[in-house]
Amino acid sequence: MAKSRERYVCEACGTEVSRWSGRCPDCGAWNTLNEVSRIAPRSSGLRGGGYAGTTDVVPLNAVKAETHHRIVTGIGEFDRVLGGGVVGGSVILIGGDPGIGKSTLLLQVAARLATQSPVLYVTGEESPAQVALRAARLGLTDSALTLAAETRVEAVLDLIARSGPTAVVIDSVQTMFSDALSSTPGSVSQLRESTAMLVRSAKQSGVVMFLVGHVTKQGAIAGPRVLEHMVDTVLYFESDAGSRYRVIRAVKNRFGGANELGVFAMTTQGLKEVRNPSAIFLARDKDGSPGSVITVLREGTRPLLVEIQALVDESPLANPRRVVLGSDANRLGMLLAVLHRHGGRALYGHDVYINVVGGLRTSETGIDLAIIFALISSLSDRPLPAGLVVFGEVGLGGEIRPVYGGEERLAEAATQGFTRAIVPAANIPRSRTIKTMTLQPVRVLAEALDLL
Ligand code: TYD
Ligand code: MG
Repeated sequence: MAKSRERYVCEACGTEVSRWSGRCPDCGAWNTLNEVSRIAPRSSGLRGGGYAGTTDVVPLNAVKAETHHRIVTGIGEFDRVLGGGVVGGSVILIGGDPGIGKSTLLLQVAARLATQSPVLYVTGEESPAQVALRAARLGLTDSALTLAAETRVEAVLDLIARSGPTAVVIDSVQTMFSDALSSTPGSVSQLRESTAMLVRSAKQSGVVMFLVGHVTKQGAIAGPRVLEHMVDTVLYFESDAGSRYRVIRAVKNRFGGANELGVFAMTTQGLKEVRNPSAIFLARDKDGSPGSVITVLREGTRPLLVEIQALVDESPLANPRRVVLGSDANRLGMLLAVLHRHGGRALYGHDVYINVVGGLRTSETGIDLAIIFALISSLSDRPLPAGLVVFGEVGLGGEIRPVYGGEERLAEAATQGFTRAIVPAANIPRSRTIKTMTLQPVRVLAEALDLL
């Protein structure tokens, strides 16, 4: 018989190695390798191997594509991030910092689903009394939801088999453990095996499985990245707990678009949908202050107005500070170089801070031009004109490149009452008119700076 050998999995990137070391050989993170016990190969499934003749190949065009049956939760922003409701048999991992509102959101979702069909809420962290207290706070006391305080996966699977719910919430997956493994609950191997068992159960029975996952200090969902590969959908609470607003992003979605955002406000009665998210990310006063620019992002299928702020200040340091919150810091370095080379403004004697207001994080390059405008506005201490929006990608040659979905972005800005837009020439709509808005196309950085 083959001896079972130890394996180690990196918490940060999910790499598996056979020998422990202090540093992950793949991603270079320190102290992230955890021992996992090798689970004996099963006789079924791909890992079994060696059993000839049990599976036939089928031509792709002979396979009938399934259309997914979606259950609409009725919480619009949540349905939106999922791509229009939950799909039967899918597994949805919801990650976020402690106290951000994972349990609150899922209790609200579960109660909504429970009005249509049976739903089971498995609580591994809190007692049923604590969950009931939260339910009272949310005004959900007469919900048909059923509760179970359980952390043993086998018992949970048994409960699912006996009570036949359409949806199950596991709060949280880190508290689950399986009898089949000897390692302690919460360890990487327990987490992987418990999740695998829950996923298998969801696929076999068609139950919708919501898994709450905690985030490690490194920011990876539920510790090992490997969980993200096992589930169908990964949702992530982005904003910090200090803010009133909660942004949920679909990081991965097998049944819908990734990067879709849902916006909620945390109130004393739980999470409330924000119907007009553009409004909350904008500055309170329309007049604007130096260093503040409004741009239009496109997150998922929705254009979203956000405020970009820059602060440029003389630096006493030999290496001035470059701090970026909510976007890519390397990109700022690039933009500063482009601004110097093609715009004639040198900021190497200045500290530069950039902030995407509202705790939003974006990786969009469409905010480049807005960042440059914010820098110049802060440097010259002059506010930009009211009613102006700016977007566009800036290339290394100083050219202003078009962004995806320009027309929708302009339409959203017009809806929110903006009257002037400085945008890449290629993003000007063919009909060339938006009634309430003056459009100013730009091709190169120098042209854009002249407009200021
Ligand atoms: P919770 O859902 O317990 O967070 P998680 O499960 O992600 O750890 O949310 C807890 C926070 O939300 C807590 O700080 C209190 C706050 N909260 C409200 O502001 N209003 C409410 O109605 C509820 C239920 C919680
Ligand atoms: Mg919780």
